[in-house]
Amino acid sequence: MTTPIVDFVRNYAARDGGRFHMPGHKGKSFLGCEALDITEIAGADVLYAPSGVIAESEANATALFGTAHTYYSAEGSSLAIKAMLALASRGRQNARILAARNVHKAFVYAAALLDLRVDWLAAEGGHIVTANITAENVRLALESADAPPDAVYVTSPDYLGNLLDIGGIAAVCRDFGVPLLVDNAHGAYLRFLSPSRHPIDLGAAMCADSAHKTLPVLTGGAYLHIAKGFESYTDGARDALSLFASTSPSYLILQSLDLCNRYLADGYAKRLADAVARLDALRAHLSEAGIPYREGEPQKLVLSACPLGYTGEGLAEHLRIRGIEVEFADGEYTVLMVTPENSEEDLTRLWDVLVSLSRRAPIFPPPMPMGEMPDTVISIRAAMLARHTRVPVRAALGKVCGAPTVACPPAVPIVISGERITSESIALFERYGINEVDIVL
Ligand SMILES: Cc1ncc(COP(=O)(O)O)c(C=O)c1O
Repeated sequence: MTTPIVDFVRNYAARDGGRFHMPGHKGKSFLGCEALDITEIAGADVLYAPSGVIAESEANATALFGTAHTYYSAEGSSLAIKAMLALASRGRQNARILAARNVHKAFVYAAALLDLRVDWLAAEGGHIVTANITAENVRLALESADAPPDAVYVTSPDYLGNLLDIGGIAAVCRDFGVPLLVDNAHGAYLRFLSPSRHPIDLGAAMCADSAHKTLPVLTGGAYLHIAKGFESYTDGARDALSLFASTSPSYLILQSLDLCNRYLADGYAKRLADAVARLDALRAHLSEAGIPYREGEPQKLVLSACPLGYTGEGLAEHLRIRGIEVEFADGEYTVLMVTPENSEEDLTRLWDVLVSLSRRAPIFPPPMPMGEMPDTVISIRAAMLARHTRVPVRAALGKVCGAPTVACPPAVPIVISGERITSESIALFERYGINEVDIVL
């Protein structure tokens, strides 16, 4: 597979000419990567109006993902999420989105910028990060809606590795003629499992993938995918991306996305299958050793810390002291993300630390105080753009949430902007170690 962006930049750097263009480092080495860090000079193409190397590279990504079009984002899924919501709402005033509640805060920012009205899907289960939305939940919500929403929006996989039945949800959305949008930030690799478990292959209209989270891509590299059959969204997709994006995309990130195409085309499915098998083998050993974990996404190991006598954060600290840094931990879980770039030795090291863990008396965490969905007082946009102040969590009872307050990761808002803060919300803030929240004045 060709790597046109990488080739162009390497040739340019090798010429070692005078750089009388941005960036200001002029290719001199400060961090070490500057020679390859260029801007949209002649021949480098233009990200939001491509006709050269970027167009060719995106065509490679499009072929790899089997989409109508795959667009690059040098600003993460956060940008791709805003763009797909802009496309689904098409600038309609008060466009309505039916969404699972465990949205990333990028969704809330998009809702503010686009003035979206959001109806939340009821979900079973009691965790802020996970919304166990089923096809039946979506059917019931669509049947009872006064008018069809402009899109259904779900997050899958989530931070705890929970995968929704995207095929079933997509089928329901199809029955109602509503497009399904998926925050697939954690699941770019799902396309390369056999069979594919990628949302686009399962019927989603659009999805956002953070290439950087699970593929060997620099931080910030992501895709906006538009599925075949939903080509109408390709009209205006670049405008939707550039509406929210910087006019100076990072060429380091674009090269990284470009090079990733070759990596994906060149035996990645086999390397992924081997990595999944290695992690499955580790899981089997953990089961034998009585170390509990949550079932779910193939490339995440979600350890249940409490039965071992630790909080998720405590177990993460135990691993950190022994040289292993995890992705995320909360009161109950410790989440590790694995890719083919983790060696056999990495997994052996992890196993050695886990198996030598001194067990303590189990902790029985109280259930998450999820409670009823808080009341919406004003729109997300009105709340985000209003004057705000920060107050101690306990002083926020009954007040209207301003900017979403999140523990990061997972960056899932506990209360959405415009909602009234309840006692359950306060208990959740405290559980996530949040001391201050932002309220509308
Ligand atoms: C579920 C989810 N969606 C979206 C995002 C935003 O992705 P990015 O960091 O690529 O902008 C994240 C980031 O962690 C995430 O966890």
